Order: sequence, then structure tokens, then C-alpha cells
Amino acid sequence: MSDLSSLALPHIAKLHAYTPGLQPTESGWVKLNTNESPYPPSPRVAEALHGAIGEDAASLRLYPSPTSAALRAAVAKLHGLQPENVCVGNGSDDILNLLIRAFCTHEATAGFTLPSYSLYPVLVGIQDGRTEVIEFDRSMRLPLERIASSRAHVFFLTSPNAPTGVGFTNAEITRALASFRGLLVVDEAYAPFARENAVELLARHPNLVVVRTLSKAYALAGIRVGYALAHPEIIDLLDRVRDSYNVNRLSQVAAVAAIEDQAHHAAIVAKIKTTRDEYVAAFGQARGWFTYPTQANFIFTEPKNARGESGPAVAKSAYNFLFAHKVLVRHFPSHALTAPFLRISVGTDAEMRVLAETLDAWLKAPNAQPL
Ligand SMILES: Cc1ncc(COP(=O)(O)O)c(C=O)c1O
Repeated sequence: MSDLSSLALPHIAKLHAYTPGLQPTESGWVKLNTNESPYPPSPRVAEALHGAIGEDAASLRLYPSPTSAALRAAVAKLHGLQPENVCVGNGSDDILNLLIRAFCTHEATAGFTLPSYSLYPVLVGIQDGRTEVIEFDRSMRLPLERIASSRAHVFFLTSPNAPTGVGFTNAEITRALASFRGLLVVDEAYAPFARENAVELLARHPNLVVVRTLSKAYALAGIRVGYALAHPEIIDLLDRVRDSYNVNRLSQVAAVAAIEDQAHHAAIVAKIKTTRDEYVAAFGQARGWFTYPTQANFIFTEPKNARGESGPAVAKSAYNFLFAHKVLVRHFPSHALTAPFLRISVGTDAEMRVLAETLDAWLKAPNAQPL
């Protein structure tokens, strides 16, 4: 450790940064590793951005709306809520960070399940906060009683979960809320691909926060917009810790345009769900690979090699073979429940065919079977 690191706060000096999925810069990759949309955003986004950098370009010299006012109004309208129920962030990661900043310290524990979104422990680490981890078993059923009796100040529930894709019902979330006294944050990054979402529960549960993103189902990962839906008192607290201009002018314009084109949004979500269900069947039934019933825009499947074996080394072998053939998926080797699996973002039909053909080639490759 250099002298400069020793100047940092001790908990920062020992922090491990979040590891994002690879973002290759050269072309030719089939990129199925970070759950982006394989389809472009609404054409209205490009029109709005052209306006903002064309005839309205002079306004770029001005700071953006500090509250993202027009965007808050659009989000509120979309969900049948008031702008006071909405806080907009620079991606939903920004919102998750605000929640940790406002509700977690060494005394105030932040809870989450394992596996789930691996950013949560990093954010808690930045805050030097304390964590409570509730582990799933292989069934991936929600450990409801443990969440209900958790003493965490704030609990992050990812639904549908990442990286499994398993969704939790409002009945389950309501049961957890019946006795949980902290703030329950339902991270709904993938909810547009799910059967149910928790927005309707907000009216009855002031200690519930729903977090959404435009990165996945609105095809705007590059624009970085996410939001929280919650009781106005919670929103007020998030606004106090938020950077004043946390969402730039172009992102606000793009996000409003995307939200206003619900027909485009619905069409890409429907197409992704159809492709997803086709490939869940292809992995699960046709290949006989154990595959969780996903409600997200990705598939979590346990590859079997030509000898019918599965496990971390088999998943790694499939990952490496795909990588060598420029097909990028995600492998999470650090946890026993995730190590035998691959997480595959749903791509276009053409991309999914390349994936399937490359996996067929892996099954036939003489050197691809490590066991
Ligand atoms: C569960 C979950 N929450 C939040 C995010 C962050 O999304 P955003 O792009 O809005 O920061 C992701 C991104 O992969 C995610 O998987």
C-alpha cells in the first residue's frame, strides 16, 4: 500500500470496487453479459436528443433542472403517483447509493440476500456500514421469515432477483412487510419483464421503496437514469443527500421521450420475453440443463457437458469457450450457488442462434471438457 492510500479512511483503503461486466470496445462480440436491451430505444429519444443539441443547444450552457422536474412528472404519471413520490437518479445505482447514504451506518444495518445484486455490499462498504446477509438455498425461494424478523434498518430485495431471474410475489412481499420495521427497498430493475410488481403496495406501506431503471426495458443503459418511488418523506430524505444536479440535461430529455413512447417500450419487452421463454425451454427441456424460471431479461442456466456433468468447472469451461468465440455471457464463480451457472442476457434472435450454435460446438469440442 502506498503512502497515499494510507491517507484514505481505513474502510476505503481496504474497499474492493464493484466489478462491472466487460464492455468490449472492438466490434464482433455477441454481448449477452450485462442485461442491456438488444433492441434500440424509442426513435423519439434520438429526435429529442437532436433537438436538445440542435436548435436548443444554447440551453446546454445552463444547469439542468435540479429535481429533474419534467422527468419526475412523467414517471409519476406513468405509475399513477405524484411527483412528490419520485426521486430521479443517475442510473438506479445512484438511487441505491442515496438509500445507503441516508439509511445505513455502522449502527444502522443494511440487509440483502445472497445471491443478489453485488453492488449493495460495495455501497455499504463505502459507508463503513454493517451488513446483514440472508442466504438463499438452491430453491431460491424467498426466506420470508428471516426478512420479516430482520433487524436491518434498510433491506434490499431484488425482485426479480439477479442473477437468478426468480421473481417474488406481492403476497410474499406483503407478508415480509407485515412484521419488518425497517425500510424495505424492492429493487425492480427487471420488473417490466415480470408478472407482478410492487408499485401498488406503496399506497399501504410507507416503509416501502420501489427502485426502477431505464437501463434495461427502455434500452437506455448509456443514458443513466433510474428512479425511486416512495412516500414523500422518504423522497425528501433522498433529495437531501442527492447531488443537486445528479441527472444531466440530455439524460432528462432522453428519459422523458422514452417514457412517453409506451408502445415502443411494450413492443421490445414483449419480444424479449418471447425470445427468453423460447430459450428457457431450449436450455431446460431440450438440453436438460437446470434453468431457473426467470421473470427477467436474462436466463440463469446450469450447463452440462457432453458427459452430462455440471458444476463450477463445467460452467467455467462453457464460459471460456464462448469467450474464445466472442460470445460474452456472465459467470459468477465466487458463490457456491452461482458458480455452476451462466447468466445469459436475452439477445436478438440472431445473437441467440450464435449462442446456441457455439454451445453446440463446445459440447463437441475435444478439449473443452475439463473433468
Ligand atoms: C438488480 C439491479 N439493480 C440495479 C441495477 C443498476 O442499473 P442502472 O443501470 O440503473 O444503474 C442493475 C444493473 O445491472 C441490477 O442488475
